[in-house]
Amino acid sequence: MIRQPTAQDKFSFGLWTVGWTGVDPFGAATRPTLAPWDYAERLAELGAWGITFHDNDVFPFDTDDATKERIVNQLKETTDRVGLTIEMVTTNTFTHPVFKDGGLTANDRSIRRFGLRKILRAVDLAAQVGATTFVMWGGREGAEYDGSKDLYAALQRYREGVDTVAAHIKSQGYNLRIALEPKPNEPRGDIFLPTVGHALAFIAELEHGDIVGLNPETGHEQMANLNYTHGLAQALWSGKLFHIDLNGQRGLKYDQDLVFGHGDLVSAFFTVDLLENGFPGYPDGPRYTGPRHFDYKPSRTEHLQGVWESAAACMSTYLLLADKARAFRADPRVQEAMAYSGILDLAEPTLAAGETLAEFLSTTDDFDPNKAAERDFGFVRLHQLALNHLIG
Ligand code: GCO
Ligand code: MN
Ligand code: MN
Repeated sequence: MIRQPTAQDKFSFGLWTVGWTGVDPFGAATRPTLAPWDYAERLAELGAWGITFHDNDVFPFDTDDATKERIVNQLKETTDRVGLTIEMVTTNTFTHPVFKDGGLTANDRSIRRFGLRKILRAVDLAAQVGATTFVMWGGREGAEYDGSKDLYAALQRYREGVDTVAAHIKSQGYNLRIALEPKPNEPRGDIFLPTVGHALAFIAELEHGDIVGLNPETGHEQMANLNYTHGLAQALWSGKLFHIDLNGQRGLKYDQDLVFGHGDLVSAFFTVDLLENGFPGYPDGPRYTGPRHFDYKPSRTEHLQGVWESAAACMSTYLLLADKARAFRADPRVQEAMAYSGILDLAEPTLAAGETLAEFLSTTDDFDPNKAAERDFGFVRLHQLALNHLIG
């Protein structure tokens, strides 16, 4: 039995996900466009708790201020009425041709000034609708040709841009944090801040890095052949897991944005296990408590019926995996296998409390490497137990 999602599950969706009409580089739309409030109402009926959007998911690029205000108010009235939270807002700095060489890192300074202003206005919009996260995904910040960018300057300008946005948030006293979203490529040949690791290193160089964290996406790490759960873990360990984009990806190809779990299901199981159960050796360790946010695309073969079914599928897959991950951790056979594997032993510091380096170096612990090399870790048995829970 799959239970119905409720507000407690904190599921949220980008308006651009269910709102994707199927336009791709090879084909035209396969579905009609609905109004933003129509998507919101339908998501609320399905059990979502929140929505997120780019400025231009709600109003077109060249909308005048009065019209903007009217459209945003109508959306806000709808979300208030149906009980949805607008938890995150972001800026579209990729669709309009002016952004073809980026918004914050375009070689053309006049474009950078325009892009930065557009982002700052979207921050004001985020605060106005009560969002608490501001995502920055620099899809066009990048290059196709290594010789086309001064890469040092690009990082200088990227830092200047993000720090300016963070300083604006602070000076206005907004209850907002920035979450950078890494992606290795697409639409640019190479995108700056391609992985969780690159973005963490970048944040460490910021002046206002205290309010800047990450929004890692399942498929984006997997497009770089990396382990998404490991990326989430390092972001959590660094206190920087501010938001997540859950979806599905199968292998090293274009950004598939499949339903959550429709890519690497075993990886999705361990992602949910980390999100729901935390680190095994640290019951009081860092936990992700933010929205379970889906950034997927209903395949263009589906019509509106399939749009709603795929949104429901993201949530039910998550709930199924959460139940299985809880059962996995509670299973005495799993606990025994984890003990056999030494999982909890890794939480014990390698040096003893108060042990000096001189003391440490003066002993061998009577350690016999050949004997220790005979240890069986039992990781395969433990993993099979996970599979038994997942598909048994
Ligand atoms: C993508 C990205 C985007 C961002 C969105 C919010 O690959 O297209 O995942 O969907 O998440 O622009 O910043
Ligand atoms: Mn994506
Ligand atoms: Mn995303």
